[in-house]
Amino acid sequence: MLNDEKVILEERQGEVHENDTSTDLVGSKKLYIESYGCQMNFSDSEVVASIMNKNGYSTTRDIDEANVVLINTCSIRDNAEKRVRNRLTEFKKKKNDNPDLVVGILGCMAERLKKSLLEQEQLVDLVAGPDAYRDLPNLIDEVGTGQRAVNVLLSRDETYADISPVRLDKGGVSAFVTIMRGCDNMCSFCVVPFTRGRERSRDPETIVKECQDLFSNGYREVTLLGQNVDSYRWNITNKGQIKNPEKATVNFAELMELVAKVSPDLRVRFSTSHPKDMTDDVLYAMAKYENLCNYIHLPVQSGNSDVLKRMNRGYSREWYIKRIEAIHEIIPDCAISTDVISGFCGETDLEHSDTLSLMDFVKYDFAYMFKYSERPKTLAERKFEDDVPEEVKSSRLSEIIEKQLKFSLESNKKRIGLIEKVLIEGVSKRSDEHMCGRTSRNSMVVFPKGKGLKGEYVQVKIIDCTSATLMGEEINH
Ligand code: SAH
Ligand code: SF4
Ligand code: F3S
Repeated sequence: MLNDEKVILEERQGEVHENDTSTDLVGSKKLYIESYGCQMNFSDSEVVASIMNKNGYSTTRDIDEANVVLINTCSIRDNAEKRVRNRLTEFKKKKNDNPDLVVGILGCMAERLKKSLLEQEQLVDLVAGPDAYRDLPNLIDEVGTGQRAVNVLLSRDETYADISPVRLDKGGVSAFVTIMRGCDNMCSFCVVPFTRGRERSRDPETIVKECQDLFSNGYREVTLLGQNVDSYRWNITNKGQIKNPEKATVNFAELMELVAKVSPDLRVRFSTSHPKDMTDDVLYAMAKYENLCNYIHLPVQSGNSDVLKRMNRGYSREWYIKRIEAIHEIIPDCAISTDVISGFCGETDLEHSDTLSLMDFVKYDFAYMFKYSERPKTLAERKFEDDVPEEVKSSRLSEIIEKQLKFSLESNKKRIGLIEKVLIEGVSKRSDEHMCGRTSRNSMVVFPKGKGLKGEYVQVKIIDCTSATLMGEEINH
């Protein structure tokens, strides 16, 4: 049997660590890149690889043959930063053996800590924030002339729209497509608005083109990425093309339709929805197109309206429940997942029990669950005291996890006996004799090898499950 409970604990957003995001491409100089944090960072690393590729760098999986080592980092919680610091100390040892090696830090931690990583801590040669990746070749040249190079300028309009990312995962079935950058929401616990800057949307034409290219290259699934996809808005006047004023904007529901039409065989997912902004139009679009997957990640954070107010989330428990009811009504078989934070500032036992009771109401199919970690400069750090003791945060988190595991198992058990359409992602990591792939509802299915190949859709009858995985057998027609 597969021990999948671990997955829920390990794959929390903001803490994912993948070592093998590098691939081998032709070029004289070698780049090793490692990514931490959310999907957006993994997507950004592909933009970085593309920029570096044009400047004569091929990527490598072997750090010992690299001329340049880049680490794309996350600041979402303190432990995410600690992991990066440990890794940087290891890189520093490599640099002692090879003084010509250039070590650079990218992403959210680079933006947050800026020059201090160079000057006070002397951990790296180069610091580049999320909007400065076009400048990387210049920054590397500066390091070559003996300087320490920094660019942490945030932009109001950079979307890297014209850059065609170099796909690093080698999987070749599923790809991330960034549709917007930054965040304007200012949830009081969150560092992202400080590290990623103002929200801006990407030209829909370039998004559709990227998805078409992916489909032509054999990809069968795209995940559209933004911190709050529901506030995606492209104003055609941006390009001076305005002929028909009512059609002057493209919103998220309209963008989804455009991408859905690329091909009925291209599955479309998206992340992250925001409960305050998710419209019924998005839900109707999902119901209309079979290839818009029946899965919504709708982070709740807390089930108590006072805590939500302190978090500055912009919705109440009642509003959130109404959005869940709208999903059930418009897309009856839609899976729903969430993010939950335990022990936010001032959270009482009663407020925590509201989170548990909300979980009882929604019965999420999946959840990412975190202990509150105070982040410098955020509204919460300035306004509230981080006053819930560590043991209380931990025990509340355990209760939340325990409940979720029960609901994940219940949700999977309901699929036993059904036939699911599965997009095959490849051979199962745990057994050469099995294939794995996902259902529209984003459940992982493992089944013995049959006729279906990677990148193909097959019908699988579900016969067993754990809380994280469905097991089945391929049905031959
Ligand atoms: N834009 C997304 C979330 C991005 S961060 C949204 O609004 O839903 C991913 C998750 O990390 C958040 O949903 C939240 O649950 C968690 N998170 C963010 N800041 C945190 C903090 N300071 N401590 C603990 N968890 C945090
Ligand atoms: Fe952070 Fe809130 Fe923006 Fe999400 S919506 S990235 S939680 S500020
Ligand atoms: Fe982390 Fe930055 Fe993403 S803080 S979660 S890598 S936006």
